[in-house]
Amino acid sequence: MRVIITESPAEVATIAADMIADTVRGKGEVSIGLATGSTPIATYKELIARYQAGEISFANTSVYMLDEYIGIDRADENSYYRTIRREFSEQVDIDDSRVHSPNGQASSVAAEAARYEETVRAAGVSLQLLGIGSDGHIGFNEPGSAFDSPTHRVILHPQTVRDNARFFSSIDEVPREAITQGLATIRAAEHPVLLATGESKAPAVAAMVEGPVTAHCPASILQFHPNCTVIVDSAAASQLLDREFYIAAEKQRRARTS
Ligand code: GLP
Repeated sequence: MRVIITESPAEVATIAADMIADTVRGKGEVSIGLATGSTPIATYKELIARYQAGEISFANTSVYMLDEYIGIDRADENSYYRTIRREFSEQVDIDDSRVHSPNGQASSVAAEAARYEETVRAAGVSLQLLGIGSDGHIGFNEPGSAFDSPTHRVILHPQTVRDNARFFSSIDEVPREAITQGLATIRAAEHPVLLATGESKAPAVAAMVEGPVTAHCPASILQFHPNCTVIVDSAAASQLLDREFYIAAEKQRRARTS
């Protein structure tokens, strides 16, 4: 894992935006994976600003979302389908037809999960942006998720329901189930880039980077990925035992490449 520790959440966004820009620039057709949640919002804002400044175009980019709540109307502002359009794709030159996500209102959830798995696999995701839940989930792969899982239906952990209640008018409105890319789907991406900011993510970040690889912390599976980058601010990095080493290693890496 390449662990990049920054001074501030703004710097996390700048570095993540740089990586996304490098991925989409001058490459022909490209598929990127995007995440919802509050953490990547600053990265999206940074990319929108670069688009408005004429520095970047996403005309060649297709987007694949990680997950979607089950039972929520796609037009609902809290659906991830709406969220990514509102926060990002509608503000840049990505056509709606290029934004893909699982349909949480499909009559057969199993068939929809299988369809989406096939779609994502056929696309071949290059960079996959990820956040992390306070319980160590990625996408909506909660503790106990199978490492080899494809896109599937999940029951949300009570901690996730509590964490996500802030987006809804009451906790009772938070859906209890979702369709998510599985850990195997996420691992198939060429370059997973996980972002975490703030002290509340520090225990999950430490478990993911330095803990044992265990289904109890689903993000820890990324330790097996040969090309995974973790970008965290100093608060989210505060429980990492080897943070001085990660900082020094990154400095050395940059000196080598500059
Ligand atoms: C949600 C999403 C995840 C996201 C996580 C963290 O439940 N399914 O993809 O990474 O929670 O969200 P936040 O960035 O708001 O802390």
